[in-house]
Amino acid sequence: MADDTSIFIGASRKPDDSYQRPEQLLLQYGNRHGLVTGATGTGKTVTLQILAEGFSNAGVPVFCADIKGDLSGIAMIGTAQDFLVKRAEQVKLDPYDFQEFPVIFWDLFGEQGHPIRATVSEMGPLLLSRLMNLTEAQEGIMNIAFRLADEEGLLLLDMKDLQALLANIAERADEIGSRYGNVTKPSVGAIQRTLLVLEQQGAANFFGEPALRISDIMRTTRDGRGAISVLAADKLMMNPRLYATFLLWLMSELFEVLPEVGDPDKPKLVFFFDEAHLLFDEAPKVLIDRVEQVVRLIRSKGVGVYFVTQNPLDIPEKVLAQLGNRVQHALRAYTPREQQAVRTAAETFRPNPDFDCATTITQLATGEALVSTLEAKGVPSMVQRTLIRPPSSRLGPITPAERQKLIAESPVIGQYDEVIDRESAFEMLQKKAKEAQDAEQQAQQAGTGGSRWTIPGFGNDDPPQSGGRRAPAPRPSNRQTVAEAAIKSVVRSVGSSVGRAIVRGILGSLSRGR
Ligand SMILES: Nc1ncnc2c1ncn2[C@@H]1O[C@H](COP(=O)(O)OP(=O)(O)OP(=O)(O)O)[C@@H](O)[C@H]1O
Ligand SMILES: [Mg+2]
Repeated sequence: MADDTSIFIGASRKPDDSYQRPEQLLLQYGNRHGLVTGATGTGKTVTLQILAEGFSNAGVPVFCADIKGDLSGIAMIGTAQDFLVKRAEQVKLDPYDFQEFPVIFWDLFGEQGHPIRATVSEMGPLLLSRLMNLTEAQEGIMNIAFRLADEEGLLLLDMKDLQALLANIAERADEIGSRYGNVTKPSVGAIQRTLLVLEQQGAANFFGEPALRISDIMRTTRDGRGAISVLAADKLMMNPRLYATFLLWLMSELFEVLPEVGDPDKPKLVFFFDEAHLLFDEAPKVLIDRVEQVVRLIRSKGVGVYFVTQNPLDIPEKVLAQLGNRVQHALRAYTPREQQAVRTAAETFRPNPDFDCATTITQLATGEALVSTLEAKGVPSMVQRTLIRPPSSRLGPITPAERQKLIAESPVIGQYDEVIDRESAFEMLQKKAKEAQDAEQQAQQAGTGGSRWTIPGFGNDDPPQSGGRRAPAPRPSNRQTVAEAAIKSVVRSVGSSVGRAIVRGILGSLSRGR
């Protein structure tokens, strides 16, 4: 049923509820993004699960956040529960095979997976300001701080570095203010206090080294399946702004790091953005515009972004318009806003003369959805009322013991688990930057091995696990060399003056090169 070119989603139904035909997502259009919506308990997570399974089996790595912990079961083999077997029969999924998937667990707090970190410099002033909910004036100071750090060759790795830099700026407020304007001691002090709050909320874990290597979420297994990176997000959801900023950072990193590929046969990576409304809640227009831009442009890097959210109205119209593959689960329509959501959802589909979309959306059963995917020439298919297939992996969460076992067997074990704490003294940082550069070069020259995991296109396979663990090299951060910095600042001013690409990435994060 599923072949090399598509993912089987489920079976559409005729108006009399009888079987109509299989519904698929064409891998060729997997990078044209997607949307999974529906009220709570209608089947969104299971849909995400079967899509992730399908991409993995097609050799496409997947990154997804696990909001409630119930997606973690994708790492374990499923069992033939009656209602699942019945569903498999209804959608003519034959044979209904069970399977476990190659999962790498990640956790910003390092508890339920490998820690994910980024350096302050990579995050950049725009996203940091969003994370800290800074005012426009404060954001201005943050921009100046990053500019100073670039100009003076200061590495910004963790929160301590940023604090030190801000303290330094506060001390030199008069001098810096006269150069750049609008920098006063009290205004810098306000940012320092916000930073403290952020640290207390646990965000300090996230900033530092070793920072995530994008190639580690682009792995495939030797049997050709894409790794599924599952980010534990239950605790993270308590700090929605950190969650949203982190995922935005990851998306912009992907955008910066990956080469253009045009329209590949299948995506290079698929990124599921659960609770996507958090991205846009209270986001300033400039950020929404940038997100819209990244979503539009990342397609040609072969990355498909799938937003998962309860209400399609959560997604700004310009972003919504770019989401080609759609699975709409049931919505309620009691309040005027809910009715509006139903109308919006219905209107975005190519109508099917067999049924009224708006009415049907309110009548869909659990695990049933209106589905429209891109077909030949990238045109949306006529919307179909579709029963979604059951997963091959376990429905529901993994146990803590199972999780720990999988973490211990992970291909990145030992690489991120310990913090590398480089001193924040500026001279020290500069000296270390040189060492880091050398180390990175060495790492790039490392040979290939015979483990289960490989990183296609990145030229460095892992050594066999028994052959020792290798930590990723610390990389040079916000400044590589004086010459490069000079070039960057020229490009930056040229870039901004003609409104084109800026070196400090599209979301303000700093690309660290390929
Ligand atoms: N495709 C399906 N096949 C079989 N059962 C399904 C399917 N989709 C959903 N279900 C059943 O419905 C339950 C709820 O689905 P799911 O957890 O995906 O809902 P949800 O929309 O993610 O809810 P929430 O918003 O609360 O996270 C599942 O635990 C499962 O029992
Ligand atoms: Mg769910």
